Order: sequence, then C-alpha cells, then structure tokens
Amino acid sequence: MLSMKLIPLCLLLFSLLLQSGNCANSPFLFHICFSKENYTANSPYDTNLNELFHLLSTKVPPTGFGLGTINGEDQDQVNGLALCRGDVSSKNCESCVIDASKELRKRCPNKKGAIVWYDFCFLKYSNECFFGKIDNNNKFYLLNVNEVDNPEAFNPKVNELLSRLANKATTTPKLYATGELKLEGSETLYGLVQCTRDLSGPACKKCLDVAISELPNCCYGKRGGRTVGGSCNVRYELYPIVDAR
Ligand SMILES: *[C@@H]1O[C@H](CO)[C@@H](O)[C@H](O)[C@H]1NC(C)=O
Repeated sequence: MLSMKLIPLCLLLFSLLLQSGNCANSPFLFHICFSKENYTANSPYDTNLNELFHLLSTKVPPTGFGLGTINGEDQDQVNGLALCRGDVSSKNCESCVIDASKELRKRCPNKKGAIVWYDFCFLKYSNECFFGKIDNNNKFYLLNVNEVDNPEAFNPKVNELLSRLANKATTTPKLYATGELKLEGSETLYGLVQCTRDLSGPACKKCLDVAISELPNCCYGKRGGRTVGGSCNVRYELYPIVDAR
C-alpha cells in the first residue's frame, strides 16, 4: 500500500523538477561542426570568438536576434548570429545564448565554424561571412513518433497552416509567426515559423517554403514535426507550442 502511494508522488516530484529545469535551461536539440578548418588555442581567432560570444550575449536578448563580426587579419575574422524563439523572454534568451556559446566550445573545439540549436535559441559562427544568405547546408528534422489516424486528410492541413504562417511571418519585422487551425473533431493544429532577421522578406519566404516542402519526408502522418535550419525553422504540433502569454 505504502509503495503504491509513493510511486505516483515520486513521479510527480520528478516531473516538477523537470519543469522547473526547463524554465532556466532550454532543451538541447542538435549541433553541427561544419568547418573543416581549425584554429589553435589562444590564437587571435580564439580570442575573437570569445569576443563574439560576449557581444552576442549582450546584443541578442533585448530583441531576440543579433549579428556580430569581430575583425582581425583575414584569417581571424569571426562572424556570428543568434536567434531566440519569438516568444522567449530576454532573460531566457540570454541564458540560452550563453549556454549555446559554452556548448559550442565543448562540442566543436577548435572548429572555425559551428552551429548549435536549443528549443529557445540557436547560435552560429564562422570565419566566412554568411549574413543575408539562406543556409541550405545546416539543417535537421525532428518528429513526434505518434501517428495521426488519417494522414491523407491531415497533411494538407499542416501545409495550409504553415503556408499561411509563412506569408504572415514575412510581412512582420520579427519574421516570426505562430497560429492554429481547428481540425474536424475536437483537435487543433498549432504551428510556428521563424527566420533569422538578416534575411529579406522574400528570402525568408523562400527558406520557409523549402522547409515546409521537406516536412513530409521526415514527418508524413506524424502528430508533430519540425524542419530546423540555420536560416529558418517550421514546426507543427497537436498541442500549443508556445505559452499563451
Ligand atoms: C582539423 O583538425 C582535425 C582533427 O584534429 C583534422 O583531422 C583535420 O585534418 C584538420 N583540418 C585541417 C584543414 O587542418
């Protein structure tokens, strides 16, 4: 009797701990060390990278987006950007950007270009200037393994919602949109799309259109899916993605 009562309590405590953990730390998603080139410890590149990370940690949180370049000799220039999800508070944005910088040092030591994604933000740096161009190389997909009952009917709804949001996002300064679509029955489909703000409106639209068109490859008939890239990301779920605030 006693143990049967204790188990649910432990589970409850555990889930509360997990939730409070999520407030401070955004879940890690994925990283890519994309540069073949290396820098050495304590080199000018190393120092410039520290300076860039510091710059982004102060520049990004107020608006959720920022670019930075630290100049040096040709080989030592470091370019970077960070983007926080459109609904994330500046406090959570700041801690996410700081975590991302530390994680890139650990996961991509001495690499001249790398990118890391969290739920709340992503951060990318490179010795090559990549601003304003769509990143077609650094991309991954996530899916909810559970299936919907009627994929033939469901898939067009995903397209309908995300395409509407893509049009909406490209007309807003934040290049960000969320929204929902009532499905037949009692379910509601929720969507989120976002681009980095170094892209023009049309480039953002192009990036989102490709990301949406790739969703069926990973996520056809799945209850949730995401295309996550270095310039834009799209996501749908059958539950609210961002807190209604
Ligand atoms: C960079 O470092 C890696 C691992 O130490 C090595 O395999 C690679 O050849 C280096 N790249 C260049 C361009 O020197």
